[in-house]
Amino acid sequence: MTYLAQRVRNFGTTIFFEMTSLANQHQAVNLGQGFPDFPGPDFLKGAAIRAIQDDINQYAPGSGRPSLREAIARKMERHYGLAVNPATEITVTSGATEALFATIMGLVNPGDEVILFEPYYDSYLPSVQMAGGIPRFYTLRPRDWAIDRDELAALFSDKTKLIVVNTPHNPTGKVYSEAELHMIAELCQAHDVIAVVDEVYEHIIFDGLKHISLATLPGMAGRTVTISSAGKTFSMTGWKIGWAVAAAELNQAVFRVHQFLTYSVAAPLQEGVVTALQVADDYYTELAAMYQANRDFLAAALIEAGLKPVMPQGTYFIMVDISELNFPDDVTFCRYLTTEIGVAAIPPSAFYFNPADGAKLARFAFCKTRPTLEEAARRLQQLKR
Ligand SMILES: Cc1ncc(COP(=O)(O)O)c(C=O)c1O
Repeated sequence: MTYLAQRVRNFGTTIFFEMTSLANQHQAVNLGQGFPDFPGPDFLKGAAIRAIQDDINQYAPGSGRPSLREAIARKMERHYGLAVNPATEITVTSGATEALFATIMGLVNPGDEVILFEPYYDSYLPSVQMAGGIPRFYTLRPRDWAIDRDELAALFSDKTKLIVVNTPHNPTGKVYSEAELHMIAELCQAHDVIAVVDEVYEHIIFDGLKHISLATLPGMAGRTVTISSAGKTFSMTGWKIGWAVAAAELNQAVFRVHQFLTYSVAAPLQEGVVTALQVADDYYTELAAMYQANRDFLAAALIEAGLKPVMPQGTYFIMVDISELNFPDDVTFCRYLTTEIGVAAIPPSAFYFNPADGAKLARFAFCKTRPTLEEAARRLQQLKR
């Protein structure tokens, strides 16, 4: 007998919790969970502190403070050339996670199909399941994580309601190519499907690549929900200020769930994010350059330790191919690495419907200071033994 509702009965605790506990227990360098171990920018903190002192401390409007919705609209125009109406086309949420949940709950009826690319950010599948949707999976495979048109097209049916696209992609570091995004756009239009695009790593992109926002492709503005958050871009994952941008009817779907889930999110932090979104473009260039240097450093350390990283094009994660190592699966490898070597990584099988599909990979985060990465590199050398 259990008191748990059917809809949550099969959800365990997340792998991040488990690996972080193990990392703490063994004083491991934590390259598992993706949170920066360095302070976020002072201009953001100052703006939030001023907002608290100015008594911006009562409920914000449900869809977000007008100043923040204006700032998000200006950002969409400035970075992607998209004209967004801040009054009717934006909902400010508690991080991208709430935006994703509200979007899926607001659009998916029981029995509707939702296409997910796996490996996936771990909230996608439970959100689809709680809405009563049926997930259909496209499995991205190393080393290039490329998308085959016929394989993807075969997943679309007259029951498909949504496709969830995450670019740059956690955990693979894949940046969807222009051709792949056009392919997705065409399939969405041919089958009357809505695209939900998770762009939380939109500014963490390497090697001169450009982030393409799916909503900018022909015919997509009216059938795309674009989701992002301040957490990754401004190294403040604990603030949990996110947003969904979509044509008015789609935004209504998001808003109707949001109003009964959280209603509104921390008012003074929203003001902090208004200031953040006014930052000059140099900030974004420096952020990407810093992470690219971290990527290169960690990739070299992994190679030096005898591992085989798959170079990411974006995000602050790097996947390692462990198929040639003598471990039965990724969970055993990551536990060994944490307890014996003193470096924590995440076993990606947690991001696949069928865990066996991710059993030959491990994910390392490089959103860490150089001394943290240097210590990890030093410890990883023990793997050579
Ligand atoms: C792909 C992806 N989407 C969404 C999120 C969550 O964003 P937030 O903290 O804004 O809810 C994360 C965080 O790791 C992520 O990697």
